[in-house]
Amino acid sequence: MQIKSAEFIMSNSDVAKCPATRIPEYAFIGRSNVGKSSLINMLMQRKNLAKTSGRPGKTQLINHFLINKNWHLVDLPGYGYARVSKSSKKVFQKFITDYFLKREQLVCAFVLIDCRHEPQPIDLQFMEWLGEQQVPFSIIFTKADKLKPKALERNVDTYKSKLLESWEELPNYFITSSSNSTGREEVLQYIDEINAG
Ligand code: GTP
Ligand code: MG
Repeated sequence: MQIKSAEFIMSNSDVAKCPATRIPEYAFIGRSNVGKSSLINMLMQRKNLAKTSGRPGKTQLINHFLINKNWHLVDLPGYGYARVSKSSKKVFQKFITDYFLKREQLVCAFVLIDCRHEPQPIDLQFMEWLGEQQVPFSIIFTKADKLKPKALERNVDTYKSKLLESWEELPNYFITSSSNSTGREEVLQYIDEINAG
């Protein structure tokens, strides 16, 4: 897919106020700092379309971007970390779970997993929840540039084995790096194919 245009549309914390258009939507979710915003910039080949930071908790709202005037990319806050006050220190903030429960335009969620780490309960739990809610999702392993090929392969295999303990079938998965654009074509082609129906 060629990216002809990528525009920021709006930020919000209420799914009811998200764009009312019916165009297909793809959302990026995962632990804080896993690289959601960086991946969006990499896919769109734009440095600062989505705000990134070395400190977790950078993205705080639901951010809609309109791509090629016919589909939406959504950058979401991370889960599993809250820099803000203790009272709002929920693992999964309600407006984020609401987004997945109510957003009918959502075609596919991409759950981002840092390829360097062992499978984490919080991610497995989140994918399980998506499954229960019948939200289609794919996995994106991020930061592939941080591992040597052998270690990367080993970690991905470990992850697949872990998933097969609770899933009959493996979800689609991609291996990406926002530093060197690994996986860019694959993810965009996948979205293109779904959009083409
Ligand atoms: P929150 O919005 O806080 O939930 O984080 P996020 O998931 O959007 O992560 P973000 O894209 O802001 O990236 C977090 C940090 O990881 C930044 O310092 C990025 O530069 C770094 N990072 C993201 N992707 C990659 C990658 O593919 N390779 C490397 N080496 N660093 C990355
Ligand atoms: Mg972010």
